[in-house]
Amino acid sequence: MRIAVLASGSGSNLQAIIDAKLDVCAVISNKVNAYALTRANNSNIPNYVVDKKGVAGEVEIINILKQYDIELVVLAGYLKILGETILTEYKGRIINIHPSLLPKYGGKGCYGIHVHEQVIANKEAKSGATVHFVEAGIDTGKIILQRMLDVSIDDTPSTLQQKILNQIEHSLLVDSIKLLESEYRL
Ligand code: GRF
Repeated sequence: MRIAVLASGSGSNLQAIIDAKLDVCAVISNKVNAYALTRANNSNIPNYVVDKKGVAGEVEIINILKQYDIELVVLAGYLKILGETILTEYKGRIINIHPSLLPKYGGKGCYGIHVHEQVIANKEAKSGATVHFVEAGIDTGKIILQRMLDVSIDDTPSTLQQKILNQIEHSLLVDSIKLLESEYRL
């Protein structure tokens, strides 16, 4: 399955997909200094910065996706909301990874370290990560896979973030893509 990854930051989830030898054909970022772009370069994967706002930006992304015959778009730490143009064009073909047990701790403003701050503040016993389809609502699409871990008494937002990233997210994202790959081929 031909995959494009959209990422704004470090790109450790992108790296997990690359390391799993999945077919990443293009990487797109809205941030020129995203380390995800360096990771793409290191693996000789074509990569692009699209920082235009609104429909013009969406159209530019769609053109790249079409150029590479992309079948699955993976949002991996992509901190920009996708608009109607791309959501319609790639309906059912865009997935996102979110570092919480959705539907808890999702939605507007609940991203990155903020998710884990809230989990700790609410003294949750469990947290985790979710891979879901992307639709117009933020973090509301159908769940593909979800995995949890225990929040320990001495976890801070940043230790919890690292634990979830390293122990859950990377394998969860790879497993989700493999699951979709097998379903599409049925
Ligand atoms: C991950 O925690 C992901 O769940 C969230 O953003 C973070 C991205 O990390 N959406 P990385 O850039 O893949 O290292």
